[in-house]
Amino acid sequence: MSDVRDAFDLSGRVAVVTGAASGIGRATAVTLAGAGADVVLGDVDEKGAQATADSVAAAGRRGTVVRTDVTRRADVDALVERAVAEHGRLDVMCNVAGIPHNNLVVDTTDEELEQILAVNLKGVFYGCRAAMRAMIPRRSGSIVNISSGAIDTPAPTLAVYGMTKAAVAMLTMDLAAEAGPHGIRVNALAPGVILTNFSARHFTDPDGTVDEQRLRGFKERFGGMAPLGRVGTPEDIAYGILYLVSDAASFVTGQILRPNGGVSMPW
Ligand SMILES: NC(=O)c1ccc[n+]([C@@H]2O[C@H](COP(=O)([O-])OP(=O)(O)OC[C@H]3O[C@@H](n4cnc5c(N)ncnc54)[C@H](O)[C@@H]3O)[C@@H](O)[C@H]2O)c1
Repeated sequence: MSDVRDAFDLSGRVAVVTGAASGIGRATAVTLAGAGADVVLGDVDEKGAQATADSVAAAGRRGTVVRTDVTRRADVDALVERAVAEHGRLDVMCNVAGIPHNNLVVDTTDEELEQILAVNLKGVFYGCRAAMRAMIPRRSGSIVNISSGAIDTPAPTLAVYGMTKAAVAMLTMDLAAEAGPHGIRVNALAPGVILTNFSARHFTDPDGTVDEQRLRGFKERFGGMAPLGRVGTPEDIAYGILYLVSDAASFVTGQILRPNGGVSMPW
C-alpha cells in the first residue's frame, strides 16, 4: 500500500447497499461511490433509490436501482445476483435497511413483532447469506450490518427493536468467525441518534411538516446525552462504513463500531 489514500480507495469495487433510498443507506452509497465503488441500490422506495443513484452518477460511478423488499428472500438474492451479473463481482455488502418500533412489550401485537423481525433481522440475515455465497468463490469481501445504540441502552418501548439489533450484532460476530477463513470480513456499526427519516417521527407533524420547536428539543435532549454534545448525521455513519469496508480495516472483523457521540462506551 503506497499511500494512505490507497487504503481507503474503492476503485474497481462493487458494493450493494440496502435501505439506499434514504438516510444512512443513501449517505453510504454516495460515500462509497466517492471512494470509487460502483453501487447497486436496494430499497422498497424505488423513487428515493433513483435519487441516490443520480448522486452516485454525479460522483462518476454507476448506480443501479433494484427494487428490493429485504423481508423477501428472493428479492435479496436477486439484488446480489444483479450486482454479480452486471459487474462480475461483489466486494462490499451493506445491510442498512431497517425500521423503528416503539411499543411496550405488553402492547406489542403479533403483527408488529413479525414485521420488525422480518425487516431488521431476517432481512439482514438474507443479505449476509446472499453476500457470503457471492464472495466465497472470490475469497474476498467485506460485509457491514447496521445494529443500533439501542443494544447498549435498554429503555421502555425498545424491546422489540433492541432485540433485533442485538441479534444483528451477534449474527455479525458469529458470521465473522465463519467468514474469516474465506478471506471475508464482517463488521457492524451501532449508531447513536442520527437525523434521518427514521428519527423524523419524533419531530414531524402528521402532514409531514417538520416542527422546528420539537426538532430543537429533540437535538437538545439526545445531543445532551453525548459527551460530543450533538446528534449524528448520516455521513458520520457512512464514513465509519467506508473505513470498515476499505483495506484500511483489513485486520478488523467481528467488531461493533459505535459512532454515537460517546453516549455509551462499552469495552
Ligand atoms: N437514525 C437513527 O437514529 C438510527 C440509529 C441507530 C440505528 N439506525 C439504523 O440505521 C438503519 C438505517 O436507518 P436510517 O436512519 O437511515 O432510516 P431511514 O428511514 O432514513 O432509511 C431506511 C431505509 O430503509 C428502507 N426500507 C425500509 N423497509 C425496507 C424493506 N422491507 N426492504 C427494503 N428497504 C426497506 C426505507 O425505504 C428507507 O429508504 C436502520 O437499520 C436503523 O435501524 C438508525
